[in-house]
Amino acid sequence: MYRSTNCGSLRIENVSQEVTLAGWIQKVRDLGSMAFIDLRDRYGITQLSINDTCAEEVRNMVSKLGREYVISITGKVVERSSKNKKIATGEVEVVVEKLTILSVSEVPPFTIEDETDGGEELRAKYRYLDLRRNPIKNAMILRHKMAKEVRNYLDSKGFLEIETPILIKSTPEGARDFVVPSRMNGGEFYALPQSPQTFKQLLMVAGFDKYFQIVKCFRDEDLRADRQPEFTQIDCEMSFVEREDVISTFEGMAKAMFQNVLGKSLGEAEFPRMTWADAMENYGSDKPDIRFDMKINNITDLAKGHDFGVFDDAEYIGAICAKGASVYTRKQLDALTDFVKKPQIGSKGLAYARVKDDGSVKSSFDKFFSPEALKAISDKVGGEATDLILILSGDKKQVLHALCELRLEMGEKLGLRKNGVFAPMWVVDFPLLEWNEEQERYTAMHHPFTSPLQEDMELLTTDPGKVRADAYDFVINGVEIGGGSIRIHDRELQQKMFKALGFTPEEAENQFGFLLNAFKYGAPPHGGLAFGFDRWCSMFGGTESIRDYIAFPKNNSGRDVMIDSPSPIFDEQLKELSLQIKKTL
Ligand code: AMO
Repeated sequence: MYRSTNCGSLRIENVSQEVTLAGWIQKVRDLGSMAFIDLRDRYGITQLSINDTCAEEVRNMVSKLGREYVISITGKVVERSSKNKKIATGEVEVVVEKLTILSVSEVPPFTIEDETDGGEELRAKYRYLDLRRNPIKNAMILRHKMAKEVRNYLDSKGFLEIETPILIKSTPEGARDFVVPSRMNGGEFYALPQSPQTFKQLLMVAGFDKYFQIVKCFRDEDLRADRQPEFTQIDCEMSFVEREDVISTFEGMAKAMFQNVLGKSLGEAEFPRMTWADAMENYGSDKPDIRFDMKINNITDLAKGHDFGVFDDAEYIGAICAKGASVYTRKQLDALTDFVKKPQIGSKGLAYARVKDDGSVKSSFDKFFSPEALKAISDKVGGEATDLILILSGDKKQVLHALCELRLEMGEKLGLRKNGVFAPMWVVDFPLLEWNEEQERYTAMHHPFTSPLQEDMELLTTDPGKVRADAYDFVINGVEIGGGSIRIHDRELQQKMFKALGFTPEEAENQFGFLLNAFKYGAPPHGGLAFGFDRWCSMFGGTESIRDYIAFPKNNSGRDVMIDSPSPIFDEQLKELSLQIKKTL
């Protein structure tokens, strides 16, 4: 027997019991006459002690042990003389009677501690060692708990978990596909699914009215902290539902997750909802962080007409009001100016105004504005004594984007984006289509299967850009956790949609004929959504990078540096696949 219990279980009540433990050596302290070993496994750490009462054979082994050796020991649980309150087993130790080395270890390339000396790339290369560290191990445990909660909740609501294929068909919509060559069909390729979207809709046609799947999805897109080329969705679909049914079902799931995983009650009230248009106008983003207010105000009318060229020449002038920040020094304001001038934000400069203690306003553009005109701006943005008003001007889209970033930056600086505070919400009524300048055609904002809002249906042929979608995103603290929509279930409407997206009937038939065909045979009204499971885990875990919540993630270049993938394949394989590499880049 390797172990009778684990390294996290022993307590004072176990004193005088004989136990067998197995695990990894965290640390050996050899004091000559006695030695202490911290033995670690997934469950915790137990201190082992070897003293002059132990057999000589055991004492002689101490000098042979090293960090990360795997050992099994048998011994007696005793009360510790100096207790360690920091760990659950800290009141006891095990006096070793028998010790077996099960596996030796080289010195690990970084310390297996909560705070490690290993850099990101090194830890990625030795991910199996990184996974031994508490923060990453706990992330895996959290992920497991969340998946279990999802399954419990959805099962209790009658959802069936059904798997859909991984080798599917490439379509040019959305992100780039990862493709897989077919040996048996030379010159042809499968694509890995960007999501099981069409399959879950076919399951609705098949009559499985409540489907879900915790499923891998693949997208060949540029990577960021919250994007991986392969990631996991909680993918869901329901038949005979309207938007309200979908939202209330998954709001229930979100509440259950908060309660059962984090122990946080979100109460009975519904999550706030905001239209896409309002979110863009007031927060400059379709995923606002509403843990704090500081909304964007349109001050174009008030700011123009004062002979200040920067404002007069602008299409749009917007402002945010940072409460209590009038104390910001010149240096701090310069830093904010540098912030908005970053290429990814793209502003030319930052104007500001301070609301003084007496309510008067002092600005960086005082010479163009009367005190009354400044006061009018201050009143519009809700400025009060000690507030700082930050103003950007220019092209509306760019200014809203920049103010969104500036708002988040100020929120961070003022401590308003608190960890452990959660502000879930729904953003609804997205535009159905967006104009793609490069391709000179509309593309679907969500995907081509999303239904227009009933009241905008007519516009699909007359003014497609104005059509709103019956779509909704689930956002927590400024992160898009999920998104979905009510789908088109009518063949003709789906064909109209493909036409609006610039598909010829042949192209539509070629790429989505299977779905259009299915709609000939009785398609129920349906809708659903998918959550980004990795993102939700990292939101609950409180760190930004989703990589920490994936056992074996890819780096920012899409590489798995541990297994060294992607990698070339053998000529023989290429031949079998009817492939020829023209040149390696
Ligand atoms: P969407 O494309 O919005 O919708 O994806 C759903 C959610 O998946 C997460 N997500 C990602 N997470 C990590 N890495 C990525 N590269 C990545 N891309 C997306 C996001 C996002 O909200 N089929 C539709 C859903 C539906 O309509 O039912 C879909 O895939 O959290």
